Amino acid sequence: MVLEVTNLSKNFGSTAVFENISFSVKKGEIVCIRGKSGEGKTTLLRCINNLETPDKGSVKINDMYLCRENDGRIQYASKDELQIIRQEIGLVFQNFNLFPHMTVMENLLEAPIFLKKMQQDKIKERAAALLKQLQLEGKEHNYPYQLSGGQKQRVAIARACMLNPSILCFDEPTSALDESTINQISKIIRDLSGMGIAIIIVTHDNSFVDEIAEKIITLSKGKVTISEK
Ligand SMILES: Nc1ncnc2c1ncn2[C@@H]1O[C@H](COP(=O)(O)OP(=O)(O)OP(=O)(O)O)[C@@H](O)[C@H]1O
Ligand SMILES: [Mg+2]
Repeated sequence: MVLEVTNLSKNFGSTAVFENISFSVKKGEIVCIRGKSGEGKTTLLRCINNLETPDKGSVKINDMYLCRENDGRIQYASKDELQIIRQEIGLVFQNFNLFPHMTVMENLLEAPIFLKKMQQDKIKERAAALLKQLQLEGKEHNYPYQLSGGQKQRVAIARACMLNPSILCFDEPTSALDESTINQISKIIRDLSGMGIAIIIVTHDNSFVDEIAEKIITLSKGKVTISEK
């Protein structure tokens, strides 16, 4: 399993968002998370991406614990462990969150250069290869405002792939796209899954779920139900 979520709970003050939810994701598996607005789908993605702190339970990514339950208390990974774990999982935000003052290429280079994980020339090579794979050749020097919605999304995907993650999460990837762009994104997601990357997609789009999901997690009233296809 690349992701194991066990008995995870999250509250905002006195409001419980979800309680004791458990599920797991395999290498290359495509999992869709569904649920009504406000059920906690984005919060769940944020918890597994270390952008929100859960209150109870554990999140294990590639045999490393992001957080775990210890004697009834939650314990988080150390700073050093976090550096490693965070590279294993990426999130493509609903509004893409590209850095507006950076070009496409600069958006891709920022995290790997900051983390100094690869040599500069290797980082640039990888960025160029990903941009080619995502059909963004020629857009390297554009700023986000000079791109269409679908192109911005592909830049966000390329950026999330730069650190070679085991898991890629998408929050509502089809909500702002027309049908042909949705078909394009669905092919990209299948290709990433074919490369062994586990995919977690939060979506309201039922036809997209029918087409792409191998497992469906429904979040309702703070609990999950899981169905395999
Ligand atoms: N930072 C926060 N502080 C307080 N409450 C929050 C915070 N973030 C989210 N919530 C609350 O947590 C609940 C779950 O929100 P979340 O954004 O996860 O829902 P969602 O399922 O993604 O909804 P949507 O489909 O509309 O995107 C909501 O009731 C929301 O108001
Ligand atoms: Mg949401």
